[in-house]
Amino acid sequence: MQLPLTIQVLFSAILHTPSAAALNPSNVLVSTPGQIAPVRAWNLQSSTKAASNLEALSRPGIDTSGWIHVNTSKCTLMGCLLEAGIYNDTELFYSDNLRRVDSKQFQVPWLYRQEFELDPGAGKYFHLLTHGITSRADVYLNGKRVADKKTQAGSYGGHTYHVTDLVDKTNVLLIQPYPTSYYYDFALGWVDWNPWPVDNGTGVWRDVEVKQTGSVALGPLRVVTQLGTPLESSPANVTLKSRAQNLDKTAVTITVTGTVSPERYPGPPITWSQTVTLPPLSTTDVTLTIKISKPAIWWPKQWGSQPLYHAELSVSVYNNTLSDHVSATFGFRTVTSKLNSYNDTTFFVNNRPFQVLGAGYAPDMFLRFSPIKFESEAQYVLDLGFNTIRLEGKNEHPELYEVADRLGIMILSGWECCDKWEAWSYNQDLAVPTPVWNEEDYGIANASMFHEAGMLQTHPSVLGYLIGSDYWPDDKAAPMYVSALKSQDWQTPVLASASRRGFPAFMGSPGLKMEGPYDWVPPNYWYDTEPSASRLGAAFGFGSELGAGVGTPDLSSLKRFLSAGDLTDLWKNPNKDLFHMSTETSSFHNRKIYNTGLWKRWGAPTSLQDYVQKTQITDYEATRAQFEAYAANWNSKRPATGMIYWMLTGAFPSLHWSIWDYYMHPAGAYFGAKVGSRIEHVAYDYVKKSVFLINRSLDKEGARSVDIQVVDASGKTLYSNTVKTMTKPNTSKEITSLDSALKNIKDVVFLRLVLSNSSSKDTGALSHNVYWLSKTIDTLDWDNSDWFYTPVTKYSDYTALNKLAAANVSVTAWSRGHASPEGHSESTVQVTLENHSPVPAFFISLNLVDKDGRDVLPVTWEDNYLTLWPKEKVTVEVSPLGAAELAAVQVFGKNVKGTTVKIG
Ligand SMILES: *[C@@H]1O[C@H](CO)[C@@H](O)[C@H](O)[C@H]1NC(C)=O
Ligand SMILES: *[C@@H]1O[C@H](CO)[C@@H](O)[C@H](O)[C@H]1NC(C)=O
Ligand SMILES: *[C@@H]1O[C@H](CO)[C@@H](O)[C@H](O)[C@H]1NC(C)=O
Ligand SMILES: *[C@@H]1O[C@H](CO)[C@@H](O)[C@H](O)[C@H]1NC(C)=O
Ligand SMILES: *[C@@H]1O[C@H](CO)[C@@H](O)[C@H](O)[C@H]1NC(C)=O
Ligand SMILES: *[C@@H]1O[C@H](CO)[C@@H](O)[C@H](O)[C@H]1NC(C)=O
Ligand SMILES: *[C@@H]1O[C@H](CO)[C@@H](O)[C@H](O)[C@H]1NC(C)=O
Ligand SMILES: *[C@@H]1O[C@H](CO)[C@@H](O)[C@H](O)[C@H]1NC(C)=O
Repeated sequence: MQLPLTIQVLFSAILHTPSAAALNPSNVLVSTPGQIAPVRAWNLQSSTKAASNLEALSRPGIDTSGWIHVNTSKCTLMGCLLEAGIYNDTELFYSDNLRRVDSKQFQVPWLYRQEFELDPGAGKYFHLLTHGITSRADVYLNGKRVADKKTQAGSYGGHTYHVTDLVDKTNVLLIQPYPTSYYYDFALGWVDWNPWPVDNGTGVWRDVEVKQTGSVALGPLRVVTQLGTPLESSPANVTLKSRAQNLDKTAVTITVTGTVSPERYPGPPITWSQTVTLPPLSTTDVTLTIKISKPAIWWPKQWGSQPLYHAELSVSVYNNTLSDHVSATFGFRTVTSKLNSYNDTTFFVNNRPFQVLGAGYAPDMFLRFSPIKFESEAQYVLDLGFNTIRLEGKNEHPELYEVADRLGIMILSGWECCDKWEAWSYNQDLAVPTPVWNEEDYGIANASMFHEAGMLQTHPSVLGYLIGSDYWPDDKAAPMYVSALKSQDWQTPVLASASRRGFPAFMGSPGLKMEGPYDWVPPNYWYDTEPSASRLGAAFGFGSELGAGVGTPDLSSLKRFLSAGDLTDLWKNPNKDLFHMSTETSSFHNRKIYNTGLWKRWGAPTSLQDYVQKTQITDYEATRAQFEAYAANWNSKRPATGMIYWMLTGAFPSLHWSIWDYYMHPAGAYFGAKVGSRIEHVAYDYVKKSVFLINRSLDKEGARSVDIQVVDASGKTLYSNTVKTMTKPNTSKEITSLDSALKNIKDVVFLRLVLSNSSSKDTGALSHNVYWLSKTIDTLDWDNSDWFYTPVTKYSDYTALNKLAAANVSVTAWSRGHASPEGHSESTVQVTLENHSPVPAFFISLNLVDKDGRDVLPVTWEDNYLTLWPKEKVTVEVSPLGAAELAAVQVFGKNVKGTTVKIG
C-alpha cells in the first residue's frame, strides 16, 4: 500500500522500525503494522501433473522449476498461460483459432503456488485476504489448510483469514481452484456476449493479499458523508467506520485516530481521535465523526470538478503502538433515485436530475485488467460525452473505481443475469441445467455482496447497485443483499433489477426497462415513442441495455483478426454464422438482420471496402439517433431518464455490440455516439420531423442560434433558416418543425444543423451535425417485435448516395506540439478539409497512422466521418492518448477519393 506523503509523515513518529532480523528486507512481503501486499507472482501447474498431497506441496523445498511461471499477482488460467507465453492472443483471436484450444486441460483443478517471506514475532499478527477466486478453491499455507472450497467460493467471495499461527519466515501459499461452470458456480459468465473462454475464467483472477497488524486488526474503511442544503455552502459530516477485531485473549483499550485530508490540492489534514475498549476476541465497529465546514463537492465530469479526499483510520494499542491502519479515497456528493408518475427511475446527483447516458462494459475475455488500458477507455468515455458505465456482474478491481473517481465517470454496478446468479424458480430465461439456490448458495451470494459493498462503498463514482439484472432476487436473497449493503453503509440507490419483470415488494419497482433492441433497428425507432406501451426500447423511461447492435470495426482492425476467407464472407455471405459475434446458440451469431437492412437501404456492396464503408455509415446513423433521441426526450411528457448502450467494449475482437473495437480504433459507432452525446447539441427527430435543442450542461452561458440548411444531392439549397433561442440548463426542447421543409424530397437530401454561441465573437460552432435523409423513413412493424428487435417492413432508400458526383476535397495536416498541463510535451494534429466542389462531400473518414501505415491508437478526434457542404472548409483536431510517432492521415469518403496526407 502506497500512502500519500502527509500520511506517511503522520505515522513516521509512531511506526516501529522493522527489526533488523536475518531476513533480506526486500524479500519480506509485509513488515509493519497495517502493511498489506499482494502475492506478486505465481507458479502454476495442473493438478494432474503435480503431487497430490497438498499439505506437502504447501511446504518449502518443493521443486517447481518445471511449473509455469507468471510474473503477475493475478490471472485466470488462460490469462496465466497467455502471460507465460504458452498462448499468444494475436494468434488465438485470429479467425476461429480459439475453438482449437484444448478445453480438457481445464476440467481438472489447477495449483497456484508461491513462496514469500515474513518476519513473525511477538505482537505481530498476519492475515490472508482473498477477494474472490473462480470458482472455488482450497487454500493452504505452510502445510495446513486455511480454507476449503466450501468457504472460499465464488468469484466475488472475498474473505480474511487470520493466519498468525501458521506463518513462518519462509511461507508457502498454495491455492487449488476448481473448474468453473456458469450454471453451478457464482462466476463471471458471458451469456451471449461472446464465445466463452475455454477455462470459464477459472483461477486467481483477483489479488490475494497478506497483511500484518498488531493485536487489533481493522476491516475495510467505510466513509459515510452527510451533506447539508445547499450542498456547496453547508457544512458536512464525515464518519469513518471500520470493524475492529481484537485478536487477543485480553480486553484492550485502543486509540482510534481519523485523518481526512484533501487530495491533489492544498489543505491541512484534519486529525482527531478517541479511545475505545474492546472485549477479548471480539469484533466491534469503530466510528469517528467530524464536521467539515466547507466540503468541496465532487461532480460528474460534465457538471464540474472532482475534488477527492483521503481518509485514514488507525488504531493503536498500549503505548501508542500502531496496530493497524486502513485508508480510502472519497468525495462529497449525493446520489438518490426516484420513480416518476410512469414508474420510470430518475437518478439525481447532488440533487440535480441526472440523465444517465452511457454503455455496458465488457472486460477482456481472459479477465486481463490493465489500469492503464482502463484509463484510456475512460478517456474515450469522456471524449464521447457519456456520463456512466454499467458493469453487469463484472465489478473488476479497485483501480477501475479510482480512475472513475478521478475522471468523473459514474459507475452503475450490479450482478449478472442468465446463470447461477439468477437461478430463481420464476426465471423464464434460465439455461436448463441451472439448479435453484440451496443454503450454501445464499451464503456465497451473501459473502459476495458483503465483499463488493466493502470495496465500492467509498467511491464517489458509484451511481448505484443493481442486485439483479434480467430478474429480481427472490424473497430470501433480496433482503440478504440489502442488509449486506446496509451493514457496509451503502449510500447510493439499490435497485432490484435492470428490468421491469417483477420486484420484491419491500423494494418497489426498479423503474428500469429491458425491452431490447439488441440488433439492428432504423434511426426512427428511437423517436417512435407513442403509444409507449408497444414502443419497447424507444426513447422514454430508462433503458438499461439496448442498442441497434452496431460497432463494426473499420478495415484496418478487421484485417487483424479475420482471415481472407472471413473477410470475403462479410460481404459475400451476409447471412452466414460468424465466430466473432455472440455465442453460436444465441440470436446474435450472424449479421442477417443488420445486413438485410444494409442491402435494402444501400444496395449490395460492390467490394469489401464498399461494404465496410456502408457499415460505418449504418453504425454512425444508428448510435447517433439512439443517443440523440434519449437526450432530446429528457423533458418529454414521458421523459427519457437514462440509457445504457449495449455495449461499450468487447471481450475479444468482435463484429458488433461495442462503441469502439478491441484494438481501441474508434469508427462509425463511436463518432455517431459522440455527436449524439454532445453537451450542447441540436438534433433531428426523424418521426416528428422537428429540431431539438439539447442542453446537458448546468452552466454553459449565453444566447444560442441554430442555423438550419437543406441541400439536395447536387448541392442545390432547398431550405435555409436561423432560429434564435434561449433555454434552461439540463433541459431539452423542440425548437422548430421541418415538416414543410422536408415535404418534397426527390430521392435524398442532406440536412445540416449548426448550433452557435451568438453572444460570442468566437464563430466556432458548438455543434455541427449533418443528416442524410431519404424520401421516406423505414416502416417499423411494432406488433411483430421480438425481444431483440423490431422488424422493418419497408426500408428507406439511400441508393442515390451511391451515385453522388465526386467531390474534390483538399486536405492538409499540421502537427502542433504543445506542453500539457503536467509539463510534458504532447502533439496534436490539425486537419483541414476544404470541399472545392458544388456537391456535398459525404462521410469522410480520417485515420491517423504511423510511418508504417499502422493505426495510431488510442486516439481522440474532435470529430470524424465528416460531411462537408459545397465549398465548406472544416478543421478538426486529433490527439493520440499516448506517445506516438505520427506520420500521416488517411482520408476516404463516399464520394471523395482515398488519399494519404503527410503530416507537416
Ligand atoms: C516482475 O514484474 C515486476 C513489476 O512489473 C518487475 O519489476 C520485475 O522485474 C519482474 N520480474 C521478472 C523476473 O520478470
Ligand atoms: C504473437 O504472435 C504474433 C503473430 O504470430 C507475433 O507477431 C507476436 O510477436 C507474438 N507475440 C508474442 C508476445 O510472442
Ligand atoms: C465451462 O462451462 C460450461 C457450462 O457450464 C461447461 O459445459 C464446460 O464444461 C465448462 N468448461 C470447463 C473447462 O469447465
Ligand atoms: C452533522 O451532525 C450533527 C450532529 O449529529 C447534526 O446536528 C447535523 O445535522 C449533521 N449535519 C448534516 C449535514 O447532516
Ligand atoms: C509502555 O512503555 C514503557 C516504556 O517504554 C514500557 O516500560 C512498558 O512495558 C510499555 N507497556 C506496554 C503495555 O507495552
Ligand atoms: C406504478 O407502480 C405502482 C406499484 O406497483 C402501480 O400501482 C401503478 O399502477 C404503476 N403506475 C403506472 C403508471 O404504471
Ligand atoms: C451475511 O453475511 C454477514 C457477514 O458475514 C453475516 O453477518 C450475515 O449473518 C449473513 N446473512 C445471511 C442471511 O447469511
Ligand atoms: C444551456 O443552459 C445554460 C445555463 O442556463 C445556458 O447559459 C446556455 O445558453 C444553454 N445552452 C443552450 C444550447 O441552450
